[in-house]
Amino acid sequence: MTLRKILAYPEPILRVPAAPITEFNEDLSQLVVDMAETMYKAPGIGLAAPQIGESVQLIVVDVSREEDEQKFMVMVNPEIIAHQGDQVDEEGCLSVIDLTAMVRRYQTITVRYHDTAGREQEIHAENRFAVVLQHEIDHLHGILFIDHLSSLKRSLYKKKVKKMLAEQKGQA
Ligand code: NI
Repeated sequence: MTLRKILAYPEPILRVPAAPITEFNEDLSQLVVDMAETMYKAPGIGLAAPQIGESVQLIVVDVSREEDEQKFMVMVNPEIIAHQGDQVDEEGCLSVIDLTAMVRRYQTITVRYHDTAGREQEIHAENRFAVVLQHEIDHLHGILFIDHLSSLKRSLYKKKVKKMLAEQKGQA
């Protein structure tokens, strides 16, 4: 098990579409273990592989602290194949420092994915669990939740990060 560094915006790899996983082997199992450890330590309720610098289509989620019925899940190559309705809920991201905001998402979704053994699976998710899955799947396409905000809010955040980075440089 290795605790991995979580990369933050504006790290370029967060913007790169991740490659599908084709080998369901020991390397994949190892990556899943690292991601789980890194997510729980953060702590977070979801993590996508690009956030630790691995540009592959893999996410881990555990919303059990927010909703009792869902526990730890791993999804390889997840894809939203159906959706219904809308909801607006507050989001944050381990890769977007110091920001939470209301984001509009689908209310219910059906996700097709592979498990770590390479078997195809489908899951129906709604409410908060559906939000978390949409957020993590976005990461696999190089999309961050700030991309769903108004351009004004997004540019304010970009300015804030620039200032933060300039201050860090000044201190170094
Ligand atoms: Ni995120």
